[in-house]
Amino acid sequence: MERTLVMLKPGVLQRRIVGEVLSRFERKGLKIAALRLLVLDRAVVEAHYREHAGKEFYEKLLEYTLSGPVILLILEGEDAVFMVRRLVGPTDVREAPPGTIRGDYAYRTRLNIVHASDSPANAEREIALFFTPQDIVTWKDENAPWF
Ligand SMILES: Nc1ncnc2c1ncn2[C@@H]1O[C@H](COP(=O)(O)OP(=O)(O)OP(=O)(O)O)[C@@H](O)[C@H]1O
Ligand SMILES: [Mg+2]
Repeated sequence: MERTLVMLKPGVLQRRIVGEVLSRFERKGLKIAALRLLVLDRAVVEAHYREHAGKEFYEKLLEYTLSGPVILLILEGEDAVFMVRRLVGPTDVREAPPGTIRGDYAYRTRLNIVHASDSPANAEREIALFFTPQDIVTWKDENAPWF
C-alpha cells in the first residue's frame, strides 16, 4: 500500500481545525499509519523544503512552518500520494476549488495550511525526515467493507 506524508501546518492548530482537516482524509478512506504533534526546528524544515531554497517565498514559508506546532501524519492507501494531493487541492489558493481543503480553508497561498508529498519518492524521503520505522503502525482492517 502506498504511503504519503501530510503536514497540518501551524495555522491548523492556531485555528482549532485539526479535527475538521483530519476528517477530510479519514472520510475519504485513507488510513492513518503514524501521527505526531511537535514544533519543528529550522534544520528539519530546511531539509523538508530544500527544493524551494532561494525562491522569493522561501523565508516566509520557513517562518510560517516554524510559527507553532504542526501535526505530521503518514497516510496509507492505493495511490495515496495522488489521492491526498487531490483532496488538498492546488497550491495557488485562487485555483483551489471549493471542496478541496485549500479551497475551503485557505485564503493565501503562503498560508495554505497543509502539505502533502508530491511523488512516492518524495513521500519516502519526507517520511524518513520525521518518522522512524518504529513510529509506523501496521494495523489490519482488511475486512472493513467500505473501501
Ligand atoms: N507563489 C507562492 N507564494 C507564496 N507561497 C508559496 C508560493 N508557492 C508556494 N508557496 C508556499 O510554499 C509551499 C511549497 O510550495 P510547493 O510548490 O511545494 O507547493 P505544494 O506542493 O502544493 O505545497 P506543499 O509542498 O506545502 O504541499 C506551498 O504550500 C506554499 O505554502
Ligand atoms: Mg510541495
